[in-house]
Amino acid sequence: MTTVADPEGHLSPASPGGDDVAPTTTDGHIELVEHYSAHNYHPLPIVVAEADGAWVTDVEGTRYLDMLAAYSALNFGHRHPDLIAAAHAQLDKVTLTSRAFHNDQMGRFCKGLAELCGMEMVLPMNSGAEAVETAVKTARRWGYDVKGVPEDRAKIVTCEGNFHGRTITIVSFSTDASAKGGFGPFTPGFETVPYGDAVALEAALADPDVVAFLVEPIQGEAGVIVPPEGYMRRARQLCDANRVLLIADEIQSGLGRTGRTFACEHEDVQPDVYVVGKALGGGIVPISAVVSTREVLGVFRPGEHGSTFGGNPLACAIGIEVLRLLGTGEYQQRSDELGTALIERVRAEAPAAAVSEVRGKGLWVGIELAPEAAPARAVCERLMEMGVLAKDTHETTVRLAPPLCVTQEDLDWAAERILTALAERLD
Ligand SMILES: Cc1ncc(COP(=O)(O)O)c(C=O)c1O
Repeated sequence: MTTVADPEGHLSPASPGGDDVAPTTTDGHIELVEHYSAHNYHPLPIVVAEADGAWVTDVEGTRYLDMLAAYSALNFGHRHPDLIAAAHAQLDKVTLTSRAFHNDQMGRFCKGLAELCGMEMVLPMNSGAEAVETAVKTARRWGYDVKGVPEDRAKIVTCEGNFHGRTITIVSFSTDASAKGGFGPFTPGFETVPYGDAVALEAALADPDVVAFLVEPIQGEAGVIVPPEGYMRRARQLCDANRVLLIADEIQSGLGRTGRTFACEHEDVQPDVYVVGKALGGGIVPISAVVSTREVLGVFRPGEHGSTFGGNPLACAIGIEVLRLLGTGEYQQRSDELGTALIERVRAEAPAAAVSEVRGKGLWVGIELAPEAAPARAVCERLMEMGVLAKDTHETTVRLAPPLCVTQEDLDWAAERILTALAERLD
């Protein structure tokens, strides 16, 4: 095909694409993506070309403060020097072996992650959804082999408003119509209870075929929903009483995001299974994992589950460095202190008529807009114009989740703009 980009990088609609001519403008890049990429996202109209720490620079040279951190995959910031160094060092050695052979990084990574989680075994995968799928398979197999549930009867209890990923099985237990509409038939074996409702949970777990309760300790995609105090503790008791696995999906809430290594720690709860991902790959590569006891993860035998890239040496080398950063406690502390101050400030200073609630833990904040100030997308677009990148979720919530290396000065700067954007919605 012949080149069709004009000097601005705009592409002819009749003949988009071209022979490796890179667009130079924001519009040119977006046009290319709109034409050649499936429309499964609705990004803000910014094209990032470079990033460092908590800041990104677009193709026009404009800088923005990243207040989303790739949905918590960038907890340590963009291109953290220690993570980049670990990646570079490993790139020069070996990047992929598949699990047909051992590699010299996976064992150390699994040991470190198991220890961080207070667990015994790790099953490494790649994306978060794959790890959740793996946890579902693990729980079912444990239910049959260890709990003694009759074949094909295993049930897993999940919560309304959950977000655990996008595979067919995972959307089978989504309660979000846009996540599942038109994708049936769905995987059976799931029951949904209202999030935060311990009485409903108690009733659901009494069914002897239930093998697991899969829960986000704080619901991220639903809008940073913090359950009532004591909910996770009660869930722990109920799972114990009914011999049900408590599976904590900490893919977004974990690894420092809420001011603790894991959000479960806010209630001193140790789940039976942790599901982790996102920040585990340091914002460089995808790596996720299911982490549990020998009794639970010991159910797998060779050939029953796997992934070509799961446990690859490049991801594991970066993961080892991520675990070292978490071991310092610095990121958890920063998130706790800076996040508490940010939440208090927005609560105190946001115009009351624009905001119905400010929720969150650590540097993970959901600003629930009053109807007068919605939609959240408009607020995020205005914030973008002012140099702050945040993301709406569900029409009425503006979600803030900056990299945990963000400074107080950065947050003051962002808070001014957030308060301005909210006030403007009432004009
Ligand atoms: C709690 C939770 N679980 C699972 C996932 C899915 O992870 P991934 O997008 O890597 O498949 C997400 C992603 O946002 C998440 O927030």
